[in-house]
Amino acid sequence: MSQPPITHQEFTRAFRDTLGMFATGIAVLATRAPNGDPIGLTVNSFNSVSLDPPLIVWSMSLHLPSLAVFENCEYYSVNVLSSDQQHLSQTFASRADDKFAGLEIDDGLYGVPLLRHCCARFECRNTVRHQGGDHLVFISEVVRFEREDRSPLIFHAGAYRTLAPL
Ligand SMILES: Cc1cc2nc3c(=O)[nH]c(=O)nc-3n(C[C@H](O)[C@H](O)[C@H](O)COP(=O)(O)O)c2cc1C
Repeated sequence: MSQPPITHQEFTRAFRDTLGMFATGIAVLATRAPNGDPIGLTVNSFNSVSLDPPLIVWSMSLHLPSLAVFENCEYYSVNVLSSDQQHLSQTFASRADDKFAGLEIDDGLYGVPLLRHCCARFECRNTVRHQGGDHLVFISEVVRFEREDRSPLIFHAGAYRTLAPL
């Protein structure tokens, strides 16, 4: 049976909603601009790639103002948010001028900002980037990592969730 044609906008909405069925965690990616200001954004495209060597992947929209800083930085951090850090996900997904205002941060390797009270933190060397459509895909080497026994923040079907046991 033939389907009625759909517009590009309808296709994009349906594609996004279907991708949203893949539940993920949420991470704040953070680094420093050349003037030393901390810069960060919320992502759910983070994932593991390789154990040996230790590599992770995530992707960033080519349209974001902080793209040039991440593209050119040497090191950055991946801060995996815990279930009580939904407010940080919202702040770092916003266009706020100083997303770090009032936040206590730790200094990582080469001064990369590290958020506190996360489930996990990774410090990464910005090694390989590939353009994939309208995103820049980062594949980076993990140089240091740590985890805490906290429950993660989950993102599924466009909404924040927490883990529930089966
Ligand atoms: C749950 C969630 C996941 C997101 N994942 C990504 C992502 O993987 N890549 C991306 O480029 N933007 C992602 N965003 C959007 C950015 O966080 C948002 O565009 C932010 O404003 C970027 O920061 P900037 O404007 O300071 O560059 C996500 C937003 C949310 C709420």
